[in-house]
Parts: sequence; C-alpha cells; structure tokens
Amino acid sequence: MKHFLTLLDLEPRELESILTRACELKTMQKAGESHHTLAGKTLGMIFDKASTRTRISFEVGMYQLGGHALFLHSGTTQLGRGEPIEDSARVLSRMVDAVMIRTFDHVMVQKFAQYATVPVINALTDLTHPCQVLADVMTYREHRDSIRGRTVAWVGDGNNMAHSWINGAVAFGYHLNLACPEGYAPTASLLQAARNLGAQIELTHDVRAAVSGVDLVTTDVWASMGQEEEQAEREKAFAGYIIDERIMAHAKPNALFMHCLPAHRGEEVSAAVIDGTQSVVWDEAENRLHAQKALLEFLLQQ
Ligand code: CP
Ligand code: NVA
Repeated sequence: MKHFLTLLDLEPRELESILTRACELKTMQKAGESHHTLAGKTLGMIFDKASTRTRISFEVGMYQLGGHALFLHSGTTQLGRGEPIEDSARVLSRMVDAVMIRTFDHVMVQKFAQYATVPVINALTDLTHPCQVLADVMTYREHRDSIRGRTVAWVGDGNNMAHSWINGAVAFGYHLNLACPEGYAPTASLLQAARNLGAQIELTHDVRAAVSGVDLVTTDVWASMGQEEEQAEREKAFAGYIIDERIMAHAKPNALFMHCLPAHRGEEVSAAVIDGTQSVVWDEAENRLHAQKALLEFLLQQ
C-alpha cells in the first residue's frame, strides 16, 4: 500500500503512468463512456481549510469512478474536538478505502498516514500540494509535450506550491528557476534534498533572470491560507513580483502561464496574463479531476 503525501512518495515511472491514465480517463469521460473502476469504494475527505477545486474534483471524481466521497469538516468531527490523530486514522481505515486530507501542519498528515491502513492523499498542507503539480504537469503535457528537460520559472512565495514544484523537478526532470523575495525562500532542507536527488534548481531574487527563456511561468498568491493577517506586510515584500506582460515577454514566445488558483488579479498576476492566450489555468483546474481519478485508481488498486 502506498500513500501520496508528496510527489517523492511515488516512483517517476508510477507518476508517468498515472498521467497517461489521467489522459485516458479524460477522454472516456468526455465521450460519456462509463468507467466505474472504483465501484463500492469510499474516499473520506478531511478538510481543515477552505477549498473549491480540491473538494469538487475529489468528490466528483469518486462519483464518476462509481464510488463515493464523504466530506468531513474538522469542525463537525471528533478530530476537531481533540480525538487523537492516530485513533481517527485507525477508525477511518476500518470504514473507508482511502483518506484525503487538507490541513495546516504536514506532520498531521504524516501521522495520520503512519496509523492508517488505507492510502492517504495530501490535498494540501502548509508544506506541499502535490495533487496540484500532478495536474499541472498533465496540463503541460497536453498543451506541449513531456515537461522533462524543460525549464519552469516559479515567481513568488517559497510556499507549499513552490515546494511541490521543487519536488516535481526531481520526479518529472524539469529545470526550475525560483524567484522569491528576501525572507520568503522555500524551506532550505526541502530544496537541498531535491538538489541532492539530482534536481537542477536555481534560486534568485531577480524575476527577469528567473523567467528568461523558460517554457513555463507559474506563481501563486502572496499570502496563503492561514497567513491572511500577513497580507499587508507581504504586499510590501512582494512588490515587483507581479507576472505581467512585460515579465512574460522574457519567457519563450510559446511559454505557458500557470496558477493553481484562487488568484488575485493585480497582485501576483495581471489580468492580461491570467486571462490571456498563454494562460492555461482553467485546464489546470479541470485536470485536477482527471489526474486525481487516475491517482485514486492507482492507490486503490495497489
Ligand atoms: N488549487 C486548489 O487547490 O484550489 P482549492 O483551494 O479551491 O481546492
Ligand atoms: N498557497 C495556496 C495554495 C492554494 C491552492 C494556499 O496554501 O493557500
């Protein structure tokens, strides 16, 4: 049995096969072909944070696979009242076939996985958001080709999305340029671990240098969930880190723009870029559905 807490939990060939299957599932779904490969299976979905895309894609995905998804908000479960994580993991494992968790502390998900006897999926922690980068790499593949050997620029906060793009550099073999403001670099140990595994990653404060000649430009909000009170301070620190048409012009002419969403137009990205011809943000959002269906099949059929 395998868990999916970061992109490094699966072998590169397993991730590639999931993406291939995701494209097949997408084609089947568009053609209206039934694909009830998880009939009778249930996914428990624990949410400690808000969500639009993640909840909908997992819930609809399980339905389309012939299974069922259970929305469990921490405020209405005993977990929210302090029942130990290990006990909750044991109990859920007796009743559901897989568990998806969106929470703050990555250690909570690790602990849950340690005691669970069913696969656990990280649906975003403060540390990483692997499901999003899985869908993003699928989106790159659909619009261009394999992302292996390409160069990706991350501009903005060294946050959970940045961390997953870093892990993705190991798992999918792309080069990564990170441009982060002073004091907002990714976690040093995670970056070093990726470099030790052979990932080619540059870290700079120079947005233009990071974006120059790249195949894909991506960013995220300046204040993530749980950091709302830092918004004003972060707006100052991130001044100059907006992806606008002037910055996009430094990337390759056929470069794509990605954003995990939700986005703040006029902060990390201009409306002209996110709503422009190089942007593939709606495909990224849709591909959460297809990529996670393939991920669920993979984990549940182990
Ligand atoms: N990108 C993403 O995970 O979106 P939600 O927060 O809406 O789930
Ligand atoms: N970095 C953002 C991603 C949201 C999908 C957050 O954690 O809020």
